[in-house]
Amino acid sequence: MDSILVKGNGPLKGQIPIAGAKNACLTLMPATLLSDEPLTLTNAPRLSDIKTMSALLASLGAEVTSLNGGLVLAMSSHNLNNLTADYDIVRKMRASNLVLGPLLAREGRAIVSLPGGCAIGARPMDLHISALEALGAEIELKDGYLHAKVAGGRLKGGVHNMRFASVGATENFVMAATLAKGTSVLKNAAREPEIVDLVQCLRKMGAQIEGEGTSEITIQGVDRLNGATHPVVVDRIELGTYMLAPAIAGGEVELIGGRFDLIQAFVDKLQAAGLDVSETDTGITVKRGGGDIKAVDVKTEVYPGFPTDLQAQMMALLCTAQGVSNLEETIFENRFMHAPELMRMGANIDVHGGVAKVTGVKKLKGAPVMATDLRASVSLILAGLAAEGETKVSRVYHLDRGYEKLVEKLSAVGANVERISE
Ligand code: UD1
Repeated sequence: MDSILVKGNGPLKGQIPIAGAKNACLTLMPATLLSDEPLTLTNAPRLSDIKTMSALLASLGAEVTSLNGGLVLAMSSHNLNNLTADYDIVRKMRASNLVLGPLLAREGRAIVSLPGGCAIGARPMDLHISALEALGAEIELKDGYLHAKVAGGRLKGGVHNMRFASVGATENFVMAATLAKGTSVLKNAAREPEIVDLVQCLRKMGAQIEGEGTSEITIQGVDRLNGATHPVVVDRIELGTYMLAPAIAGGEVELIGGRFDLIQAFVDKLQAAGLDVSETDTGITVKRGGGDIKAVDVKTEVYPGFPTDLQAQMMALLCTAQGVSNLEETIFENRFMHAPELMRMGANIDVHGGVAKVTGVKKLKGAPVMATDLRASVSLILAGLAAEGETKVSRVYHLDRGYEKLVEKLSAVGANVERISE
């Protein structure tokens, strides 16, 4: 199994290009199931999660061709021949549940295994189920699979108020409602940029949707959707992760493709911590001068709040801040698995329920560490950038799910990072 070795190597300098968003691509890909015409995505990220989604779509009879080194995904669902998303694929990645809404909308039936994914909490499916039931779906759980069908074969427009603004349930509802008969309204919808990106793509396919990016999305169902070509939006989580590299190691790095509007709550916290963050014509520049990082309190929230997917990386920064920072996690109940690993590197962290109290120390020290999810793994690499000695991060398959060319991107700005196979 591969590991990544990181050695503190002084300030970083240069540019890092930011890829297309994993989480946007993972919801744009199942949108192909809504049409028998081709859907082409450009600016796709080269990640193992994208391969998993390709395999899932192929298992349903869709054609997925990866072009231009993986940057372009050409898909066609003119010949769907299987309506069951099998446990063997779904267990690898929770986002597999995003085939449920499109299959139900196009075929009137779907059987989808309950998902797996990161070990960061219970992550049930109740919000997806009630959202689709509001469109007339009948769903029951049998042998670990959700069996969904709709009487008469076509979903009907409906109004639904979600108990919590779930990203995935919003995506499933919106995709399903595009082909439903009549008008659908989703209240307390999630507002994440990846949902806006999905709606923009669906609109190119002929869907009639209003209100994306707000808490109320209205969809006027149409009889069929056509093909389209769509560029995947920039990955705000990869962006935030690499913004933290110069923040932790020192120096100045420009993140090419970065935009404040995707990540404002995070930018505010970096500025409060004393970093120089500015928007350029081509991206975002982060500069750390000579001074200490100041402690800041962080609470994860649904968009436009501070993203849970950047909480672990932010913790890596605050480990060496001046003073005490409180990090409150409100989205996932079990998302502090990186804390004990950071403590192995000398961090002073006290986790109580949903809050981690981080008391800054002068310096972290390299250590062998291991992470149990994608964002936790990368937080350990970031921490290693300024630690004394060598940090060895194992289980890097988590990183391959969400960070393309991580070693190359960090090396290009002067970090001492190496991947080794054992
Ligand atoms: C998406 C992102 C993930 C991110 C998360 C929150 C993708 C592929 N993944 O995941 O990276 O961390 O948004 O920003 O886009 N919940 C329920 N019942 C449900 C569904 C969710 O209780 O039916 C709970 C979950 O357990 C969790 C919270 O709602 O505590 C947030 O989940 P949700 O917004 O659905 O996240 P995902 O779409 O799974």
